[in-house]
Amino acid sequence: MTGMKVTPWEVSGHIDYEKLIKQFGTKHLTPQLLKKMEKEAGELHFMLTRKVFFSHRDLDWLFDKLDKGEKFVLYTGRGPSGDTHIGHILPWIFCKWLQDKFNTELYFQMTDDEKFLHDDKLSQEQTHNFAYENALDVIALGFDPEKTFIFTNYDYGKTMYKIATRVAKMTTFSTAKAVFGFENSTNIGMTFFPAMQAAPCFLPSELKKKKIPVLIPAAIDQDPYWRITRDVAEKLGYYKPAAIHNRFLPGLQGPDSKMSASKPDTAIFTTDNPKDARRKIMKSFSGGAPSLEEHRKHGGNPNVDTACQYLFNVFEDDDDRIKEIFDSYKKGSMSSGEVKTMLADKVEKFLKDHQQKREHAKKKLDKFMLKD
Ligand code: TYM
Repeated sequence: MTGMKVTPWEVSGHIDYEKLIKQFGTKHLTPQLLKKMEKEAGELHFMLTRKVFFSHRDLDWLFDKLDKGEKFVLYTGRGPSGDTHIGHILPWIFCKWLQDKFNTELYFQMTDDEKFLHDDKLSQEQTHNFAYENALDVIALGFDPEKTFIFTNYDYGKTMYKIATRVAKMTTFSTAKAVFGFENSTNIGMTFFPAMQAAPCFLPSELKKKKIPVLIPAAIDQDPYWRITRDVAEKLGYYKPAAIHNRFLPGLQGPDSKMSASKPDTAIFTTDNPKDARRKIMKSFSGGAPSLEEHRKHGGNPNVDTACQYLFNVFEDDDDRIKEIFDSYKKGSMSSGEVKTMLADKVEKFLKDHQQKREHAKKKLDKFMLKD
């Protein structure tokens, strides 16, 4: 597929997920595996049945371990370069579901170091502040304070560095270059950083002094990290981390558009004024025909319509309802304006609620944060 680029720092072009599975060497989430998961969890999240999460590494192994009485923990994270958008929280919503269903711990890494190293314009103080701002969004989603451990690399650096240098020692520059595309002009902080993102895969085992299986829910852009982590895991005496990968929620400008913190109209941010979010949604890319009359006659394409996609991926959990919306949109009996209004109502409600919880989260921060 032309122009597709998926790295941890850049996602562009039309994303061909089948090709990514082949390129990255991951596996499809098969119906058998989903059945197994349904048996373990008691039900399936809509992000699984709708293939929002579509690929994995070693999930079958993880469930075998679980059957043998070895409980897994979750690991995920955020690169704090700005405000949190709805794409970021998509895997976190799924993490929350996994935590509830499997009653499991979550380790959450804020890579304030990565974003300082990567972005010329960001200072250490800024990325560190964003880490704490973004942590409020994580807490607001309702994770269990007894079982959720959030840390920034700067504030938990002593613990992280010790594990990271062990990973780094086993990883050659040649491997890192092949996996991440580093060049001679890449600063050496960035070439070391993958070891810092690998480290939390082994943190639970270090803290508990025994091997603990880890599952990482994240979009597929983060997979290169797990490839190098899995290469060194057994040599260092740990299990390889398992991963489950989600697709990307598109930007508001259409299927292959990107969300960007520097362009506020490309995404809904958790800190947006709800009225402003409504305005953004009402002018988002639509998959309908150019005029309402034509749309009524020929129908539209829900697979490219932004509002339909946001409902499908995040905001409408009822399967019957989503089918009804897609069918009516295809037929033309439901207009783009109607779908946008439906999404805007849901997003407005979500933001009001989330922002309240975010305020309350400020008092709970200490309970969640791990520091040296
Ligand atoms: P970051 O901040 O780029 O992204 C945070 C999480 O959001 C996912 N994501 C998306 N998911 C759906 N649709 C989108 N449009 C979208 N954009 C981003 C990312 O895959 C990620 O799960 N280096 C990492 C931080 C990190 C991390 C981790 C992430 C550290 N340890 C472990 C996942 C798992 C980063 O910059 O993520």
